[in-house]
Amino acid sequence: MTIEISTEQVTHAHKSKPFIEAEGLRIAFGATPALDGIDLTIAEGEFFSILGPSGCGKSTFLLLTAGLLHPTGGKISVEGKPVRGAYTNAGITFQNHNLLEWRTVLDNVLLPLEIRHIKNDRFVTRAHELLAMTGLDEFENHYPHQLSGGMRQRVAICRALVCDLPLLLMDEPFGALDALTREEHQLLLQDIWLHERKTVLFITHDIREAILLSDRVAIMSPRPGRILDLLTIDLPRPRSQDVSESPEFIEYSRRIRSQLFAKPLSSKMAASKMTGKTK
Ligand SMILES: Nc1ncnc2c1ncn2[C@@H]1O[C@H](COP(=O)(O)OP(=O)(O)OP(=O)(O)O)[C@@H](O)[C@H]1O
Ligand SMILES: [Mg+2]
Repeated sequence: MTIEISTEQVTHAHKSKPFIEAEGLRIAFGATPALDGIDLTIAEGEFFSILGPSGCGKSTFLLLTAGLLHPTGGKISVEGKPVRGAYTNAGITFQNHNLLEWRTVLDNVLLPLEIRHIKNDRFVTRAHELLAMTGLDEFENHYPHQLSGGMRQRVAICRALVCDLPLLLMDEPFGALDALTREEHQLLLQDIWLHERKTVLFITHDIREAILLSDRVAIMSPRPGRILDLLTIDLPRPRSQDVSESPEFIEYSRRIRSQLFAKPLSSKMAASKMTGKTK
């Protein structure tokens, strides 16, 4: 199937004002560098993904943006201000989504309001609306152990959205889901984003997911993480799963694969030839 790209439909969020800015950003854990000179600007309202192999520093970048880790060099700012201490204007879904097992679904979603001492009915209404939007309205009074993995993940997304903050930080939110559930959740997230238009920093190691969802994708090198390439995904929205059969999608995928896999494989082979260990 070939998709006609209508320029009106394509999101050009990256042309609007900067929301997250990293300049020469680096961090080391002891003597081990994890990120080595990240320069990146993410625009307000953009769906921006970081894609890279395990251990390349994706979660570390997200935690630096959230102010939960502190850089050893360079700068990071959000909304034009340097991040010092925890940045509180973001909803976060962590790589392990950490629902509180002793709280119901609704009480898990309401937790950020309690932490922020927000007592405004508007947000409670929003919690119910988000649960309905994600198909969880009948499960508000269930406990996490009574839910499937996908449902738990949706609760975590509702919790990140409940305070209606301008930034959503998502660390591999669908990593633990089976392929079919994952595809459903990707489209659900796209719907939410099209509806709410928050700035999203999305971490993934899934090439297809990154292309399907993003305005732009940054590809990171293995540790210490650097930006190898930055791709603008010019595909019309809303995107369906069928878009992955289009020639444009296949070309994006090919370009990303060539960045991710060319170097490590060839260097591994070279190393094995030098040592004579081919198997
Ligand atoms: N708190 C920490 N203390 C020491 N080393 C750390 C810490 N956090 C991360 N690292 C190291 O930094 C590197 C990057 O870790 P990070 O969790 O950011 O990788 P990642 O790209 O998110 O990987 P994955 O895809 O497996 O989640 C890894 O080598 C990791 O061991
Ligand atoms: Mg990670």
